Amino acid sequence: MVAISVTLREGTTQRIAATPGMSVMEAIRETGIDELLALCGGCCSCATCHVVVADAWIERVGSPGPDEDDLLESSSHRTPTSRLSCQIGITPALDGLEITIVAED
Ligand code: FES
Repeated sequence: MVAISVTLREGTTQRIAATPGMSVMEAIRETGIDELLALCGGCCSCATCHVVVADAWIERVGSPGPDEDDLLESSSHRTPTSRLSCQIGITPALDGLEITIVAED
């Protein structure tokens, strides 16, 4: 299992366990955290799974692809380390990942 620290909108942080092969969005929702609407189910077409990756992790997580980048552009909460969590695949290299769920647009 891979540990991920998820900071919720009100500022508290929960440590969740995720299975490699899942997306970060799926892992968050599976734990019962309901702050990500994930309306498109992970098809990279809704941007309701927006998270900010901690600076120390963005190199390992990587940059968004072109479609994801376009969607993130439509968010008024975009930051330099914003990603759509459905587009981050969990691998053992992400053990300890820290993300923050972004306010709704
Ligand atoms: S769940 Fe729709 S873009 Fe991620």
